Amino acid sequence: MRLSLDYSCLVRGGPQGALGVDPKDLDQAGSQHRARLAALDKRRRSGEIGFWDLPEAREPARACQAYADSVRGRFENVVVLGIGGSALGTQALHAALSPALHDKRPHTTRPRLFVVDNVDPVLVTGVLRAVNPATTLYNVISKSGSTAETMSQFLLFLEALKTSIGDSWREHVVVTTDAKKGFLRPFATAHGLTAFTVPDSVGGRFSVLTPVGLLPGALLGWDLEALLDGAAVGRDRCLGGDFASNPAAVLAVCQHLLDTRCGVHTQVLFPYSHRLRLLVDWNVQLVAESLGKRDAEGRGVGPLPHGAVGATDQHSQVQLFSDGPRDKVYTFLRVLSHTDDMLIPAPPHGLDDLEYLEGKTFGQLLDAEARATRVALIDKGCPNALIHFPQVDARSVGEWLMWAMASTAYGGELYRVDAFDQPGVEAGKVATYGLMGRKGYEKEKARVEAAEAGDGRHRLD
Ligand code: PA5
Repeated sequence: MRLSLDYSCLVRGGPQGALGVDPKDLDQAGSQHRARLAALDKRRRSGEIGFWDLPEAREPARACQAYADSVRGRFENVVVLGIGGSALGTQALHAALSPALHDKRPHTTRPRLFVVDNVDPVLVTGVLRAVNPATTLYNVISKSGSTAETMSQFLLFLEALKTSIGDSWREHVVVTTDAKKGFLRPFATAHGLTAFTVPDSVGGRFSVLTPVGLLPGALLGWDLEALLDGAAVGRDRCLGGDFASNPAAVLAVCQHLLDTRCGVHTQVLFPYSHRLRLLVDWNVQLVAESLGKRDAEGRGVGPLPHGAVGATDQHSQVQLFSDGPRDKVYTFLRVLSHTDDMLIPAPPHGLDDLEYLEGKTFGQLLDAEARATRVALIDKGCPNALIHFPQVDARSVGEWLMWAMASTAYGGELYRVDAFDQPGVEAGKVATYGLMGRKGYEKEKARVEAAEAGDGRHRLD
């Protein structure tokens, strides 16, 4: 079973009337699909863009699995130190593929997962105090091997580990980083640490199917083969030259047209699934960091990625979606078969009005809410796409990850930006180095301080 896409409510004049893009614009943009595909394929074949080929590269998954098998039962906790693309995919997959509330259960054969994806002292100190280093494995993940947030955490956890268990600390640290660049690789080599590689051609936000996500997955018991099989299905569908049967290309084109021709700048990913909820955060980074750029003419472009979770956000954001500005396009993720489903029992005397719920399952209720909310938004003229997940499992999630990454890659071609760089993140990084006293960045410190000082007006102290 594979994913399906209904995009009838992204196109004007369909059964729902005046939603979405002009069909003529869609046809025109669709006719240029092969050129966009060829441009991406050229970069893929030259080895510049590596994410398309990750489903075929099974050796890293096997190596992660072999390592995980060799330490099975030894660690109560896995602590991931990483940020951005080195953390979000693991968090999303953990929510989707580990048993529900896994980290709150008493110790099982699978370790608990902590992802330290910020340097807020509350989080760092909290994790430091929550785990016993003697029974914890630390997976330091940084493609560049130099990110200040991750490095500072590593220094702290390494010191705690050495203090706690002395020389055997080496068995408690696994590094995932570039083959050559950064501080982590030489450190790992010098100390004989187990190390996995993030391929040079795969940037952070496209790296969830490399050891960045695969190693935590192997340690936590996800079905890596199924994840990559699903991604392979997604890759084949999204590399297709026939526009009309390529889900990533269709989504990218519709969303780009909505943004650039219809004033629909915000893309809301709306999973009706607790397990799929963190795909939203992963997708926000993927789209924002890939497409929010200056285009060839120097204009700032890119949609605003956003998220909501059904049914929770019906009681939060749906009022805005329904009656607020018509500047949003929705992608509903609907799950057709729910695991752990339960019947809602008969109401006791006095709650007779709740009889309509009796004998239905929670999955049915959630699904009814998904359908009802979508149709309520259709009635208000809100463009939307509907993706059906047969169920939430490694295969379907792997396929969707590939849809999202491929769609973002096509988005780069449509917006005429490089979806695979992130020049806008650099300015903040170097300014941080200056403020933290890194040698060679003194001017940055002075620049930040001058900018902050301002002229003293418009302040309330
Ligand atoms: O997608 C990206 O490239 C970024 O979000 C990175 O993942 C993030 O900056 C962390 O970088 P690194 O993995 O090099 O520590």
